[in-house]
Amino acid sequence: MSIFITGATGYLGSYVASILLDTHKDRLSLLVRGRDRAQAVDKLWRAFQLHMDAKKFYESLARIDFVLGDLTSEAPHLGIAPDQYKKLVRSTDSVIHIAASLNRKSEKACLNTNLRGTLGVIKLAQDANATGGIRRFSHVSTVAVAGQRDRETVQEDTAIDWNRSDYDPYGRTKKFCEHMVRELLPDVPKTFFRPSIVMGDSRRVETTQFDMVRAFCVLADLPAVPVRPDARLDIVHADFVASAIATLHQKKKTAHEIYHLSSGEGAKTAIEIATALAGATGKSPPRFLPGMEKPFSGLVNTMMNLPKANPLFVPASLLKVFLPYVTYDTVFDNTRVCKEMGKAPVPFTEYAAPLYRWAKGVNFEYPYQPLPAAPKGVSRGSKSLELR
Ligand SMILES: NC(=O)c1ccc[n+]([C@@H]2O[C@H](COP(=O)([O-])OP(=O)(O)OC[C@H]3O[C@@H](n4cnc5c(N)ncnc54)[C@H](OP(=O)(O)O)[C@@H]3O)[C@@H](O)[C@H]2O)c1
Repeated sequence: MSIFITGATGYLGSYVASILLDTHKDRLSLLVRGRDRAQAVDKLWRAFQLHMDAKKFYESLARIDFVLGDLTSEAPHLGIAPDQYKKLVRSTDSVIHIAASLNRKSEKACLNTNLRGTLGVIKLAQDANATGGIRRFSHVSTVAVAGQRDRETVQEDTAIDWNRSDYDPYGRTKKFCEHMVRELLPDVPKTFFRPSIVMGDSRRVETTQFDMVRAFCVLADLPAVPVRPDARLDIVHADFVASAIATLHQKKKTAHEIYHLSSGEGAKTAIEIATALAGATGKSPPRFLPGMEKPFSGLVNTMMNLPKANPLFVPASLLKVFLPYVTYDTVFDNTRVCKEMGKAPVPFTEYAAPLYRWAKGVNFEYPYQPLPAAPKGVSRGSKSLELR
């Protein structure tokens, strides 16, 4: 039996899958977009090299079944080959659905990947549940389902309010994904994980995801920011988020159905983060000009009209998307996850400066290494590694 996982080639998914490989014995069936198995292996290595060396990666392949498919496929069953789909339905005893489009600007991408894609994953879970039963369906959602907020501490059970406006298509579609999972899998034990802003790793500086990190570096480099100094920023590190997902997914029974994976009341304020950065980088903290949010947003909108090649275009588009999440001074209560995991996330102020320095040093690009040749007896595309 195995855990079917979507999104393992992505940032959080690679953390979750590698923790499961390290700390549990289950086989993993990974939905990967790819032309063929060799390409899928390469994509997985790209994501996994943050967590393991090539030798361990090749060893891990013995426990991984690659499922070539696409959440947006026009073909039935997520585009998975019919024979493979049958085997998958028989072998799946739990599901962790992580894949999503995080494109906050595109209704189309969010509709296709998040809504149609999640429906496809739910149908697979229904088929597996009808065949042998499903132990758990874990759905990785987001705190963005809470919609537009202002200076609040949001609790898990009251976060979704259908009368509230959303910031973007991403939040709106992720909210409906949760609804579909609840409505369409009534008999399956479910866990909803809602990470807040995931940035960095408490144990090391390297990351493979830069969007939010880059927006944070842009803000940190400005002489003035349109943020209240005491506004709290609910930032959480990826290793905390992923270990909670892997641990709670594998539990026989969880205490709750929904978990905020966040810093909650422990979230640091803008001035605390700026001071931590200033202490470590020798730079002065920016001036805080909360009344300037509207003119600042107007400036960002104007910069968005610049040609894409203009160096200001990327920072402007990142600020456009992430600014609401930085200025809304809202945190997501994490009492449940801290109690159940027996630990709290490390405050962002403890790893913000090294992350800032490293990310700028590599110019917001992870130094990816190609997969070295396989050790003797192991091949990337050989029969011995085909889906069982
Ligand atoms: N990162 C955050 O700050 C954050 C915060 C809150 C919640 N989350 C949630 O965490 C989850 C993972 O986010 P992430 O940051 O790890 O995102 P990511 O790095 O962009 O990874 C997205 C994953 O989804 C896969 N995917 C996208 N479209 C697909 C499709 N059509 N078919 C199959 N797979 C597809 C990607 O595959 P490819 O490799 O083929 O592109 C990739 O493996 C999402 O559900 C997101 O909503 C993230």
